[in-house]
Amino acid sequence: MGQVIAVVSGKGGTGKTSFVSHVGLYLADMGKRVLCLDCDVGLRNLDIALGMSDCAVMDFTDVLEGRCGLEEAMVPHPQMAGLYLLNAPSLLRRPIDPAAFQRMLGQIRLRFDYCLLDAAAGLGTGFRLAVGGCDRAIVVTTTDPTSLRDAQRTVMELGALPRGRVHLVVNRCRRRLMRSLHQTIDDAIDTAGLPLLGVVPEDEALALAMGRGVPLPFLHSDRYAGRAYRNIAQRITGQRVPLLRIR
Ligand SMILES: Nc1ncnc2c1ncn2[C@@H]1O[C@H](COP(=O)(O)OP(=O)(O)OP(=O)(O)O)[C@@H](O)[C@H]1O
Ligand SMILES: [Mg+2]
Repeated sequence: MGQVIAVVSGKGGTGKTSFVSHVGLYLADMGKRVLCLDCDVGLRNLDIALGMSDCAVMDFTDVLEGRCGLEEAMVPHPQMAGLYLLNAPSLLRRPIDPAAFQRMLGQIRLRFDYCLLDAAAGLGTGFRLAVGGCDRAIVVTTTDPTSLRDAQRTVMELGALPRGRVHLVVNRCRRRLMRSLHQTIDDAIDTAGLPLLGVVPEDEALALAMGRGVPLPFLHSDRYAGRAYRNIAQRITGQRVPLLRIR
């Protein structure tokens, strides 16, 4: 049975989509079958982050509402075997039925090792949809104090998930800030009671990757953020990998 992992944040723009696309690619590169599922209805951009812009014709509401099957809606990545994208709709015609969404996740668990849900920012419908049916959640925060506070708030909303099933990723870390931030990050981990899954450095290659629609592994930029995402993918599969030193 595969695992469904919701990638969430309180504050917007913390790096969820960058995380889902890259960790998804690195998991697939390790031989896993991975579905990246965009839950950001109306503001979807996971296709661009994966380098699959305009590849998907159908979206997950087509599956939920019976217009097509899961197999027809999910699109294989053109360069990474084992990685598939299931798109979000750009417009919602009718409210999403959470029970139907959970049934679809059940089908997904049978076909994939991992399903990464790219949630919408905030604690609204997109968030509830993603966390309602997940097995684990990853809260992505930046080192910005407002983002850390929003992460703590998000964790409180994840109360239904058992301890040890919620992890923290701190994104956009810069070395100069790390010393003063250690305390803040430690506080966030303590207050939220969350184990740290990884630290991702600030890396301008990511903006380049998103701008060109070419993810880091295909830009041969397997350093800095790319390396951090690969390490996180390995930790998700249960390997022990030391935390990245931020340069
Ligand atoms: N580690 C990083 N270093 C540099 N830039 C980054 C990093 N992580 C994310 N970014 C940039 O931050 C911006 C927002 O990232 P992303 O779209 O992944 O966030 P998000 O949490 O999905 O946003 P939203 O809440 O709007 O869905 C993008 O321009 C991305 O390139
Ligand atoms: Mg996003």
